Amino acid sequence: MVASEAASCTRCRLAPTRTNVVFGVGNPESGLFFVGEGPGRDEDLQGEPFVGRSGKLLDALIAQELDLDRTGCYIGNVVKCRPPQNRDPKPDEVESCMPFLAEQIEIIAPRVVVTLGNFATRALLQTTKGVTSLRGTSYPFRGGCLIPTYHPSYALRGGGAVVAEMRADFVRVREAL
Ligand code: URA
Repeated sequence: MVASEAASCTRCRLAPTRTNVVFGVGNPESGLFFVGEGPGRDEDLQGEPFVGRSGKLLDALIAQELDLDRTGCYIGNVVKCRPPQNRDPKPDEVESCMPFLAEQIEIIAPRVVVTLGNFATRALLQTTKGVTSLRGTSYPFRGGCLIPTYHPSYALRGGGAVVAEMRADFVRVREAL
């Protein structure tokens, strides 16, 4: 099983410094898959994605705009182990880890993938463009669609206007479900 394979993964330099592999959480049958960048400190300690401050905002948007909780969607990341000091994952780390995300997408076969921030959006849409120019619409993606939005940690820094744009993206998600 892909989760147990990831749990003992030593494919890249993130393995020795991680506390937990953060594979994903939620309902793989929900048809809705949120994809972030990679675990931070809280996620590394708890083994679950988006449990820190940005996770609280993500949970709130999922509840308020989609009327769902973590049992009604699936949440994961591009890389499953925490990059030290929360640096961006390096290209070879992404390359090593991508087969896990590819297999998650294959198994879950989501109707809607929501990419959170530049990193996940670029990785899945295979582009160098930023989320600011890509958001506001949906893209065909492996039999379903992909809706890019900001990373919740960016929205926490950017304040109300960014959160409002995220809410508009979540309305698109609701319509697509
Ligand atoms: N940021 C991410 O991109 N993913 C997490 O799981 C937590 C914070």
